[in-house]
Amino acid sequence: WSLGARSTAVDRGSAPDFTAKEIDEQPAATRRLLDGLLGRLHGGRLLGDLGLGTPERVRLVACGTSGHAAEVTARVLAVEGGIPARVVTASEPDLAVPEPGTLTVALSQSGETADVLAALDRWGDPVLAITNAPRSSLARRADAVLGLGCGPEVGVAATKTFTSQVVAGVAVALAVGARAGAVSASRLAQLESVLDGLPARLATTASLAAAPAAALADELADEPGVVFVSRGAGVPYAREGALKLEELTYRRVQAVPAGELKHGPIALLGPGTPVVVVNAEPRGRLAVGVSEITARGARAVLVGASEDATLPISSPAEEPPWGPLEAAVALQLFAREMTVRLGHEVDRPRNLAKSVTVE
Ligand code: AGP
Repeated sequence: WSLGARSTAVDRGSAPDFTAKEIDEQPAATRRLLDGLLGRLHGGRLLGDLGLGTPERVRLVACGTSGHAAEVTARVLAVEGGIPARVVTASEPDLAVPEPGTLTVALSQSGETADVLAALDRWGDPVLAITNAPRSSLARRADAVLGLGCGPEVGVAATKTFTSQVVAGVAVALAVGARAGAVSASRLAQLESVLDGLPARLATTASLAAAPAAALADELADEPGVVFVSRGAGVPYAREGALKLEELTYRRVQAVPAGELKHGPIALLGPGTPVVVVNAEPRGRLAVGVSEITARGARAVLVGASEDATLPISSPAEEPPWGPLEAAVALQLFAREMTVRLGHEVDRPRNLAKSVTVE
């Protein structure tokens, strides 16, 4: 079974690099994907279309950026669907034992990540692949394939495939919850409406955050390291923003839940240390974290919809269970701007490959 297979010619057009182009393509890519998914969630029809039954639990397997999309998916499965969901880092699969009734969801933009393919050999579950490569090794190995249909992603740093993986993962999570009767029809309609507005919010965020991301990159280009924090649904986006900055700029980064700062990472903070705060929840829950940062003289760089945000984003009125996906765009723009200022190759960071085909 396959949904959403699609490809487009690789053409950088007038963009300065493929990464810039692929960041820009996110509203269109998520729109296409949502057009194929919305309307298939009620009653969990998407699962039937994919030839899958109703799982009792879900195991999500991925690496790197795809692992962050897996974290978001697991959260929606648990919070909305009440379905036990566990993320397994594909290179560390030892602790995930076979459990009856498990659906394994493998997320990989390339579909060729060796660690993911090796991990799948350990369990006998049905496998759903979420991938941008519907003819990849992963797609051939899987029982069902949900294609992202993003078109080719040339930049080694995953951008449009990440936002599309989150959309696909959220759709699967909501379909599982709807099929299990845990997500009511009215709740599903409400969340579908928020999803439907996502492409426009990604586009607005790109406009809002472009100049501030460039200005922030000017200010932070000489900083040796950056800490990223968030809480709750924002944590995967803090991790993703950190990974993007690290792989493109070669700066040392650390991403932790804000509540963990006081258990160690706060020792890193000194006068002026930049701490990117991804605002997933109402400010109340992050206020303590922000005051811990500023009390040490460190610099809190707020990413969110509040008026005092350094990197502004467009957010829905109420935070959805998948968190501030829009923040990913602002953080991608920031990472790219830093890379340009440092004179590094944006599309091909050192030591990395687009498909990691060795374990
Ligand atoms: C993302 O920017 C990185 N290049 C990397 O972490 C990547 O997400 C990881 O290697 C997994 O790749 P995949 O999605 O093709 O499996």
